[in-house]
Amino acid sequence: MRLSRKNLLAMLGLVTIPLVLLSSALVLLTRRPETGAAVPCVLIGLSILELLLGSMALLRWQQEHLSRPFKKLQDAAGRIRDGNLDHELTSEEEDEFSTLFESFEEMRLRLKNSAEEQLRAEQDGKVMLSNISHDLKTPITAIKGYVEGIRDGVASTPEKQARYLSTIYSKAEEMEKLVDQLYFYSLVESGRIPYHFTRIPARAYFSDCRWELKEELDAQEMVTGYENRIPEDICMAADPEQLHRVISNVVSNAVKYRDRTREKNQIAFRFFLEGETIVAEIEDNGVGIAPEDLPHVFERFYRADAARSASTGGNGIGLSIVQKIMEDHGGRALLTSEKGKGSCMRLELPVYKENANEPDPDR
Ligand SMILES: Nc1ncnc2c1ncn2[C@@H]1O[C@H](COP(=O)(O)OP(=O)(O)OP(=O)(O)O)[C@@H](O)[C@H]1O
Ligand SMILES: [Mg+2]
Repeated sequence: MRLSRKNLLAMLGLVTIPLVLLSSALVLLTRRPETGAAVPCVLIGLSILELLLGSMALLRWQQEHLSRPFKKLQDAAGRIRDGNLDHELTSEEEDEFSTLFESFEEMRLRLKNSAEEQLRAEQDGKVMLSNISHDLKTPITAIKGYVEGIRDGVASTPEKQARYLSTIYSKAEEMEKLVDQLYFYSLVESGRIPYHFTRIPARAYFSDCRWELKEELDAQEMVTGYENRIPEDICMAADPEQLHRVISNVVSNAVKYRDRTREKNQIAFRFFLEGETIVAEIEDNGVGIAPEDLPHVFERFYRADAARSASTGGNGIGLSIVQKIMEDHGGRALLTSEKGKGSCMRLELPVYKENANEPDPDR
């Protein structure tokens, strides 16, 4: 326990004054017996009186000294109980209470931060809900329009009807994607991503992925490069569906953030082995990300181009999901990018080893 200077001085005075008085009385009694007993008796009496009064005063002072910080502490705790997290508790002196006050302050600041974070997450969630609701309106309006067109006979020829139907189908798919995104986001929020890990041959898996994405990339007129150098016998412990979600999120970013001023928009897939790590690189020559935004793009709801334009859409959750799924697979996601040049996502997964533990999604 730390004692204040005032405290020490008071205790020193309480002990030294009677000591001086008593020793003077002793000196008088032993060395100067001729002075008689009256003066030493007075000195002894004085020292006893000083001890009594001093102790009482010290006790009272101590009580006050103790009660003041306790009152402050009680007041500060009461404010926190009432939801006021802004009241700062400061210690006037460097004493045994200052450490307690510091710890209390630290606790208050942590509470404040977590309350602010919760509020921010709630607001972000609301913004996302309103964005998705807004995004859902567009395909719904389109579907209604095309259905009306068929019903009212505007689509008069079988060819026109087929075209209307195919548009309705693609709009319904758009809606499905949005609803799926919302549903998956709610699973991530509540920590309930349904994983089904299996042993998968990496080379074949990534090759299939590429073929599955080819149609969509061709439709977007993206020039695709592909290189797969993973040996046939290399396996990974992964959930094929969730890993596919990772790759399609990254690919959809490459498409969404392509540089429309370029003649050719490219996307290159490279799969290879680096020691005990399976690496999947997906590189694009899109608009790229500014250095000040790059460290934040994996954060939930972070969007580098804050102005949410109708052409890009998006809620800023794709990459946070990518990171979560990769970490749950015992791997990681790393993004490098240069504004105006393009971005490269590097996904790393550990090679599956017999008898090794499966990744733990609860980590
Ligand atoms: N390949 C890329 N090229 C340029 N910018 C990118 C790329 N990938 C991500 N970004 C930037 O990072 C931000 C976060 O990406 P993320 O995928 O998390 O969200 P989003 O694409 O905006 O929305 P969502 O994926 O939820 O539909 C994007 O808004 C974009 O600014
Ligand atoms: Mg995205």
